[in-house]
Amino acid sequence: MGRLLCLCSLAVVLLVAACAPEPAATDPIARGRQVYRELGCANCHEGSITNFFRPVGPPLDRVGQAAAKRVPGLSAEDYLRQSITDPAAYLVPGYPDSMPRGLARDLSPEDLAALVAYLASLR
Ligand code: HEC
Repeated sequence: MGRLLCLCSLAVVLLVAACAPEPAATDPIARGRQVYRELGCANCHEGSITNFFRPVGPPLDRVGQAAAKRVPGLSAEDYLRQSITDPAAYLVPGYPDSMPRGLARDLSPEDLAALVAYLASLR
């Protein structure tokens, strides 16, 4: 009986641990990857079963490189930040102006900077 109780408590502890939100990473790039996941950026920027033929947005797997050359005078980081806070300021050729506004509205300045650092690291 004691053993069963022990096993059950262990199962509960593991379940609670598995459901608890991931703690915020301290490394900016790791934190940026978490923010990217939390905000659902992949829904439009990565292929999935529901958008099998063509994701709505451009792939971001090398966006750190592309970002440096998109807009003359804008550094990769500035361009990436602008792409998130003001998506219509520059449209990637061939893509619709359908990136949602206000995605970064509820982000702290640190989390926005982390998201930009993460994207810039994708090369
Ligand atoms: C509803 C779909 C949608 C969602 C969600 C979305 N995007 Fe986009 N994104 C787009 C589209 C479409 C474009 C291309 C048009 C443009 O440049 O705005 C784009 C463009 C971009 C670009 C410019 C890429 C380049 O090659 O220059 C970046 C960077 C970007 N998105 C980042 C993000 C991030 C980060 C998130 C999550 C916070 C996100 N997007 C969420 C649709 C989306």
